[in-house]
Amino acid sequence: MDDFITGLPKLELHLHLEGTLEPALMLRLAARNGLTLPWTEAATLKAAYQFDSLQSFLDLYYQGCDVLRQEQDFFDLTWAYLQRCASEQVVHVEVFFDPQAHTSRGVPFETVLAGIEAALLRGEGELGISYRLIMSFLRHLGEEAALTALAEADPWLDRIHGIGLDSSELGYPPEQFTRLFARAKALGLGLVAHAGEEGPADYIWQAIRQLGVRRIDHGVRCADDSDLLRFLADTRLPLTVCPLSNVRLGVFPSMANHNVLTLLEQGLCVTINSDDPAYFGGYMDANMRALVEALGASREQLCRLSLNAVEASWLNLAAKARLTRSILGYAACQGVSLS
Ligand code: ADE
Ligand code: ZN
Repeated sequence: MDDFITGLPKLELHLHLEGTLEPALMLRLAARNGLTLPWTEAATLKAAYQFDSLQSFLDLYYQGCDVLRQEQDFFDLTWAYLQRCASEQVVHVEVFFDPQAHTSRGVPFETVLAGIEAALLRGEGELGISYRLIMSFLRHLGEEAALTALAEADPWLDRIHGIGLDSSELGYPPEQFTRLFARAKALGLGLVAHAGEEGPADYIWQAIRQLGVRRIDHGVRCADDSDLLRFLADTRLPLTVCPLSNVRLGVFPSMANHNVLTLLEQGLCVTINSDDPAYFGGYMDANMRALVEALGASREQLCRLSLNAVEASWLNLAAKARLTRSILGYAACQGVSLS
């Protein structure tokens, strides 16, 4: 099964680049930038990755961001992630970055974008990994700050494909960001938002109805609302689900309780993603393996999850057709029949 998962062509649609900062790289960048961290060993840093909520994780995540100072740091971060993708047959990525987490520390937007984009372009050329780049806004800083950040990004928007909304969810409902999303939509940007991770199903409705998103990040709390479940199954509006993240942040008590396969069988367009893999114990392969080990996911279900990611992606129709064929071809070679 491990080999089957690694060989399956996969897409990742919910990935925070800052969340791919592995302990060893964090320590190396801190040294390069002359910074002192509370940890000196990768193992002790990794041991600090014990979370009981989204906020407890975010506190460490923003602390980790502080080692990212120069263009080269953002390049190294992104390039390490893409090499990992190549080793796991992840062929297309739609990745988030959090500009406000950097500009608030005095790192220019241009520096962040230049490093990330150079790595993404190299990944496309050398590794054949296509990409979309999503600028995500920190909901705890509020809508005014997000509007300012969007205006500051204006000169570079032709290099960015969409916007997202992340950070602390509870107490920051999507309806607080309607002007931001209306502005981004008018600029022709794609729209996604984290909703229904820790927050209630109503936040998912708000993101759909008031922000106009066509894809939800997480969204697992949709299970609490039967009308929403029906709507998501009927419309196939995708959810980018992150199983290891959900268990590490206490959204589900254990992987055995995770609802992603139930949602899949109810006809929802759910996809598998790694969110912040350096902090949550694994990349795409590890997330799929966890579904097999705890929930008995079948090879057919894993193929359908990958096909859902093609459907949910922002690729054009020709690229979607090509990736669909490659997944169906892989399934056929492996003797998996997809009805
Ligand atoms: N930022 C990085 N990871 C996040 C997550 N899982 N939820 C909200 N904000 C985030
Ligand atoms: Zn996320």
